[in-house]
Amino acid sequence: MSNSHHHHTHKFPKGFLWGTATSSHQVEGNNHLNDWWRSEEEGKLRHKSGRGIGHFHKYKEDFDLAKKMNTNAHRLSIEWSRIEPKCGEWSEDAIEHYRKVLASLKKRNIRVMLTLHHFTLPQWFADKGGFEKRKNIKYFSRYVKFITEEVGEYVDIWITINEPGVYIYQSYMRGGEDDQWPPFKKSTITSLRVYWNLVIAHRKTYHIIHSVCDDNKCSSQVGISQNVLSFATYRKHGLIDNLVVWLAVNFANHGFYYLSGKKKTHDFLGLNYYFRVSLKRTRGSLHVIQDDISGQGRETSDIGWEIYPRGLFDVLMDFRDYKLPIYITENGIATSNDDRRQRFIVAHLNEVYHAIKGGTDIRGYFHWSLLDNFEWHLGYAPKFGLIGVNRSTLKRTLKFSGKLYGEIAKENGLIHKMMRYLGHETKL
Ligand code: BGC
Repeated sequence: MSNSHHHHTHKFPKGFLWGTATSSHQVEGNNHLNDWWRSEEEGKLRHKSGRGIGHFHKYKEDFDLAKKMNTNAHRLSIEWSRIEPKCGEWSEDAIEHYRKVLASLKKRNIRVMLTLHHFTLPQWFADKGGFEKRKNIKYFSRYVKFITEEVGEYVDIWITINEPGVYIYQSYMRGGEDDQWPPFKKSTITSLRVYWNLVIAHRKTYHIIHSVCDDNKCSSQVGISQNVLSFATYRKHGLIDNLVVWLAVNFANHGFYYLSGKKKTHDFLGLNYYFRVSLKRTRGSLHVIQDDISGQGRETSDIGWEIYPRGLFDVLMDFRDYKLPIYITENGIATSNDDRRQRFIVAHLNEVYHAIKGGTDIRGYFHWSLLDNFEWHLGYAPKFGLIGVNRSTLKRTLKFSGKLYGEIAKENGLIHKMMRYLGHETKL
C-alpha cells in the first residue's frame, strides 16, 4: 500500500466533459456588422480583428484537431450580427452556416455548449443603446427565440451571457482608459442599469429556451458564464481587509447569481477562472485598490495576470453550496511559452480534481482556447491556444500543450507521470 497512491491516475468522474472554448468575434474574421468591427475600423480600438484566424471557413479542420485531442465538448458562440444583420431581418445564409458548424461538431461526437451573447452586439442594436435600455431586451429575446427554434436541436448546453461583470467593467467603467471596450463609457449609473438589464435578459432567455426546448425535446440546460476571481487580502489577518474581500467575493463572484434567482434561472453554474487579485487598503481608510504585484516575484502570464491554481480550488469549493452542477466554462493562460501552458493545465486540473474529491459536482472543463485568437483590445499578441495559428498562412499547428490535453482527455484524468513532471512545481 505504502506509496501506491503515487502511481494512481487522478480519475475524473465518468462522462466528464473535456472541452475547448472560443467565441465568434475572436476566431471567425470579417464580422463587419458588429459594434467591435465598427470601432476597430474607426480607430477607437488599437487592434483590428480583420480576417481573424479564418475559423469561419476552417471550422472543420479545427474540429478535426479538437477531435484529435480526444475532446468530447466544445464551447462556441453564435454571432448575432450575422444572423440578424438589420433589425428584424434574418439571414438564411448565416443560419445555414451555423447549422453546418453545429452539425459538424455533432458528427464528431463533440457536445455543443452554445453562447448567445459573448461581448459583441449588432451595430443596429448598439445604436439603439444596447443593454442600456430596458426596452431593448425584447430584441435580444426575439433573437434568442429564433436561434432556439432554428438550431436548438444541436445544442446540449446553453450559455445565455458571457461574463456580465467583465462586459460592464470594460464597456461602461473604463471609458478613457487603455483597455476600454465599446461603447467606451464611464458611468456608475449606466453600469448598474446595464447590470440589471442583463439580469432580466438572462431570466427571460432562460424561460424562452425552456419553453421552446421542452416542447421540441431539445436539451434545455441553461446557465451563464461567470468570471470568478480568487481574491486575496493584502494584510492576511486584518479584520477590515477580510471584510472587504468578503464583500468583493459576494459582489463580483456571486452577485449575478443572487440577483437572477439562483436555481430558479440556472440549471448549472458556468465558471470562468483565470487569476488572483490582491486587494490593498490604505491603512486607516476604506479606500481599496488592486495591489500592483509587478516586481514581487509572483507568477504572472504574458499579460500580467497572477497565476494561482489554488484559487480555482477555493472558488469551486465556494460554489459547492448552490448544489448545482458546475462547468468550468473557461480557464487558460496567455503565454508564448508552451511549457508553461502544460504546467498550467496540470496544476489547475489537479485543483479541479481535489474540488471534486471535496464534494463539488463538477461536470466539465473547457480550456480557453482551442486556438490562438483575437484577444479583444490586446489584439493577436496574447497566445491562449492549444493550437497555434500562423497569421499569414492561417496554418494550424497542434501545440505540445494540445497533445497533453489530448492525453488527459483520453485518460479521463491526470496520470501520475504528468504530475511528476509538470504538476508538483509551484512555479510555472
Ligand atoms: C473571455 C474571453 C477572453 C478570455 C481571456 C474571458 O474574459 O470570455 O473572450 O478571451 O477571457 O481574456
